Amino acid sequence: MKFTAQYKPILFPEETDNTVLQHGLQLEKARKYHRCALFIAVLLTLLLCVMVFQLFFFPIFLSTSQTTTEIILGQDVGCDDPCSFVLVESIPEGLVYDANSTINPSIFQSWLNLLTNAKSSVDIASFYWTMTNNDTKTHVSSAGQGELILQELLKLKQRGVSLRVAVNPPNSPQQQSDISALKSSGADVRVVNMPILTGGVLHTKFWVIDDKHFYIGSANMDWRSLTQVKELGATIYNCSCLAQDLDKIFESYWTVGLPNATIPSPWPVNFSTPYNKDTPMQIKLNGTESQVYLSSSPPPLSGEGRTDDLQSIVSIIDTAKKFVYISVMDYSPTEEFSHPRRYWPDIDNHLRKAVFERHVNVRLLISCWKNSRPSMFTFLRSLAALYNNKSHYDIEVKIFVVPASAEQKKIPYARVNHNKYMVTEAVAYIGTSNWSGDYFLNTAGTALVVNQTKSAGTSETIQMKLQAVFERDWYSNYSRTISTLSSWTETCTF
Ligand SMILES: *[C@@H]1O[C@H](CO)[C@@H](O)[C@H](O)[C@H]1NC(C)=O
Ligand SMILES: *[C@@H]1O[C@H](CO)[C@@H](O)[C@H](O)[C@H]1NC(C)=O
Ligand SMILES: *[C@@H]1O[C@H](CO)[C@@H](O)[C@H](O)[C@H]1NC(C)=O
Ligand SMILES: *[C@@H]1O[C@H](CO)[C@@H](O)[C@H](O)[C@H]1NC(C)=O
Ligand SMILES: *[C@@H]1O[C@H](CO)[C@@H](O)[C@H](O)[C@H]1NC(C)=O
Ligand SMILES: *[C@@H]1O[C@H](CO)[C@@H](O)[C@H](O)[C@H]1NC(C)=O
Ligand SMILES: *[C@@H]1O[C@H](CO)[C@@H](O)[C@H](O)[C@H]1NC(C)=O
Ligand SMILES: *[C@@H]1O[C@H](CO)[C@@H](O)[C@H](O)[C@H]1NC(C)=O
Ligand SMILES: *[C@@H]1O[C@H](CO)[C@@H](O)[C@H](O)[C@H]1NC(C)=O
Ligand SMILES: *[C@@H]1O[C@H](CO)[C@@H](O)[C@H](O)[C@H]1NC(C)=O
Repeated sequence: MKFTAQYKPILFPEETDNTVLQHGLQLEKARKYHRCALFIAVLLTLLLCVMVFQLFFFPIFLSTSQTTTEIILGQDVGCDDPCSFVLVESIPEGLVYDANSTINPSIFQSWLNLLTNAKSSVDIASFYWTMTNNDTKTHVSSAGQGELILQELLKLKQRGVSLRVAVNPPNSPQQQSDISALKSSGADVRVVNMPILTGGVLHTKFWVIDDKHFYIGSANMDWRSLTQVKELGATIYNCSCLAQDLDKIFESYWTVGLPNATIPSPWPVNFSTPYNKDTPMQIKLNGTESQVYLSSSPPPLSGEGRTDDLQSIVSIIDTAKKFVYISVMDYSPTEEFSHPRRYWPDIDNHLRKAVFERHVNVRLLISCWKNSRPSMFTFLRSLAALYNNKSHYDIEVKIFVVPASAEQKKIPYARVNHNKYMVTEAVAYIGTSNWSGDYFLNTAGTALVVNQTKSAGTSETIQMKLQAVFERDWYSNYSRTISTLSSWTETCTF
């Protein structure tokens, strides 16, 4: 009874007699004070404990956290290498620009420079090898440059320079002959079975020389890439920090190029990189402060910290404020090689978003040749259809066609613009992949991303040089607005 009298008032005060209520409240008050005192005591004890803990442990903890931060920062803050960056191109024979057009050194010349100056090692990541025109059973003089490069490569071992070649599985006897020649010259060759490993191909094209110089770009190890196909790349000299980071990507191909290899997951820590889109390398290129990183695809081949090639493309598009100029051979919002067919709008969406939300000027310069896929042009028309001068949806698509004489038309897989780059008002992106889903999901590719805010002295920035290349091609006689093409087959096959 008392029990209920005590507790009832608190729950139902209006139903209870006042005196009982008072008594109950007093009791409750006393209990509260007691609880409060206990709470304060516990709190004080806890505070004391924390203070003691701090006194003994915090200084130690503080110093460890400082050293860790220092180590991480030490890795990120760059590199004093006197890097020299040269934009290089192959301009197909017979493709002539107007007088005073921008001209860059040739890929052939830079490859020759790299090889003749190699002192200890040459590492080459490659898709396939056809450096002589044995493959086409033709005898055209324009194969001479490729043949010369192959000769230089075959001489390396005698000069005490080691040569390592990572290559996709050859799919014809013609593609086997250069590789056999390389092997007999003493080169170390590993066939990276990408079709088995990831369902893609090893499509990457780069060279690393003496862990110090490198080339990266669209050119294949193909004589046509020097004289019959339009290519763009970058050759960087005296740049160990970047060259060693690129060599980590090579080492990953080398690792999975062993017989019966599987892809390590996760990759050992020595494949990790501190350089990526969030913490790029701080480095001077031609004396100009630059932020640089290398991205790679497909994701399973990357060590910790490496930016995926797709992420790098998307982030560059997303941060563009004025323009995004893209020059790629193939562009398609699909996984071209998947069955059943799959739509893949990952890049497409970001381009449309840039046009719609930020009124960024987007220009695509895409290639057309007899092997182009008709569906590509349908999707490109769809992008171009977004153009609206009144609403400031500023997107344009042009098709670049490399001209060919009757003789040149006989050369298979030639006479095409094979470029794979992007330039915005801030960033130069030089890659090795076509822009469709397969290339980022399954196929191995690599890109060099350079952000130079301003140039030292009067020299042009890399961004300005690449923009000049794009504009030269965009306004040249070889580009046509997609909407003016009546039938792409007619235009591309001449
Ligand atoms: C480009 O076309 C214009 C006009 O048709 C012509 O005058 C010019 O010579 C052409 N230039 C080249 C390099 O073909
Ligand atoms: C090319 O440059 C020269 C010298 O600067 C100039 O005289 C000439 O008019 C230029 N030609 C064109 C087509 O711009
Ligand atoms: C290409 O053909 C020539 C002559 O037939 C031959 O001597 C040479 O070894 C071949 N080169 C390769 C890389 O197969
Ligand atoms: C690279 O550095 C060496 C030695 O400092 C120098 O002789 C050479 O000219 C440099 N190469 C380039 C392309 O800048
Ligand atoms: C990491 O170490 C392993 C074992 O020493 C070596 O085989 C591999 O090439 C190294 N990777 C890199 C990126 O240096
Ligand atoms: C690779 O696998 C094949 C077939 O499973 C086997 O015969 C061969 O010995 C293996 N090679 C190595 C180097 O493990
Ligand atoms: C777009 O509009 C501007 C003025 O608003 C005009 O000067 C320009 O010619 C237009 N361009 C096209 C391609 O219609
Ligand atoms: C992509 O690029 C490669 C060579 O870089 C080329 O052979 C191929 O035709 C291109 N297109 C597709 C759809 O793979
Ligand atoms: C380029 O670098 C500057 C700092 O030098 C930075 O503020 C800017 O965000 C960078 N831009 C991109 C697109 O990474
Ligand atoms: C950097 O310097 C080299 C050597 O002087 C030069 O060939 C190259 O064009 C320069 N690169 C840029 C982007 O200005």
